[in-house]
Amino acid sequence: MEASKEILDTGLRGVTIAHTRISDVDGAAGKLIYRGYLVKELAENATFEEVAYLLLYERLPKKDKLEAFEAQIAEERSIPSEVISALQSLPPNSPPMDILQSAVPMLATCDPDIKDQTKEASCRMAIRLIAKIATIVAAWDRIRNGKPPIDPDPELSHAANFLYMLTGDVPDDEVSSFFDAGLVLHAEHSFNASTFAAREVASTRAHMYAAISAAIGSLSGELHGGANVRVMEMLTKIGSPEAVEPFVNDILDSGGKIFGLGHAVYKTDDPRARILAPMSKIMGQRIGETKWYEMSEILEKKGKEAFKKRKGSDIYANVDFYSASLYYAMGIPLDLFTPIFAISRIAGWTAHVIEEQFAGAAPKPVLYRPESEYVGDYCGAEECTFVPMENR
Ligand SMILES: CC(C)(COP(=O)(O)OP(=O)(O)OC[C@H]1O[C@@H](n2cnc3c(N)ncnc32)[C@H](O)[C@@H]1OP(=O)(O)O)[C@@H](O)C(=O)NCCC(=O)NCCS
Repeated sequence: MEASKEILDTGLRGVTIAHTRISDVDGAAGKLIYRGYLVKELAENATFEEVAYLLLYERLPKKDKLEAFEAQIAEERSIPSEVISALQSLPPNSPPMDILQSAVPMLATCDPDIKDQTKEASCRMAIRLIAKIATIVAAWDRIRNGKPPIDPDPELSHAANFLYMLTGDVPDDEVSSFFDAGLVLHAEHSFNASTFAAREVASTRAHMYAAISAAIGSLSGELHGGANVRVMEMLTKIGSPEAVEPFVNDILDSGGKIFGLGHAVYKTDDPRARILAPMSKIMGQRIGETKWYEMSEILEKKGKEAFKKRKGSDIYANVDFYSASLYYAMGIPLDLFTPIFAISRIAGWTAHVIEEQFAGAAPKPVLYRPESEYVGDYCGAEECTFVPMENR
């Protein structure tokens, strides 16, 4: 064993491992910035397509550039018939995140740019992924319910298109704009677990689709993108506003988690939660069912108070907390909440893969290769004598 070295069993918290120009999360101030712009301003003023362009090409697009980008996305939305056939052959009860994670490498097999290692080719692959992931999620929901997939409509925005391909109905402007704002808010978040997974795979010079497939696997976990589903499951389990406080006490006393609260970086309000909360309230009012929003509000308040009492520190609602009741009020099935996160985060992931591949932020990136301290020797020594099968 080597001489002692510093070991960080902290999930790399507080360790800065790369330069980036894509985004910044200021956890103390509760600020999230995409390429210099506050996410709040982007959510209020820009569409998802505009934000995806900003993340990929580093600047907000002028009108003609945005129109060309939207046209490219519209052109790339359809998915190859081979992928549709593969989806149709899979068990209908397969989790949508598993379907999405396995469909992405299938897209690689149909991508004409897959062997082209230029930045232009990577951008084209990024646009295809941004366009197609939403189609795959909607198509899978139709297929598993025994319905034919719906072709995308080139006249609709990315947000409206997804809801249309899912349900067959074109959403009205308010629903479409709420969904669009949700996509903007989830599009990027610096070196979170899934983005790090994508960058780590890209650092090996594996292609864009390999990196994105890894990111989707990472996002599926309940401590990351899977938390929005767990929030809604928790709310339905609690059932009524009166039951929130006892639930909070029980869960904290038993060492469990209140999903949607807490964040590895934010130590104050997550700006995204504060934008999603009023949208959740309005969506609840629109469908005549405000219970889930009201319970969320009480859960946030009671959860914060009880956490402070037990741990002496503050805890805040994160992005998953109010997106859960927002999507629920839109009638979206629970197990599509995390795939919807991926429909949005694909913009940030692909921007990070391109930065990793083409050294967008100096100095040049290298292959990620952390070290570990070996502590698990079976025989009590660093090297064990091999034991033949008959003597074990
Ligand atoms: C996101 C998360 C992993 C960040 O964690 P973190 O800031 O690194 O803090 P830790 O996980 O180390 O937790 C610190 C302490 O607070 C507790 N804690 C953190 N979040 C909690 C929550 N939501 N509910 C209950 N307890 C929580 C932990 O159990 C831990 O307690 P301990 O010191 O007694 O072991 C954590 O807050 C969490 O699990 N939240 C719920 C899942 C979620 O919403 N994830 C989506 C994130 S966007």
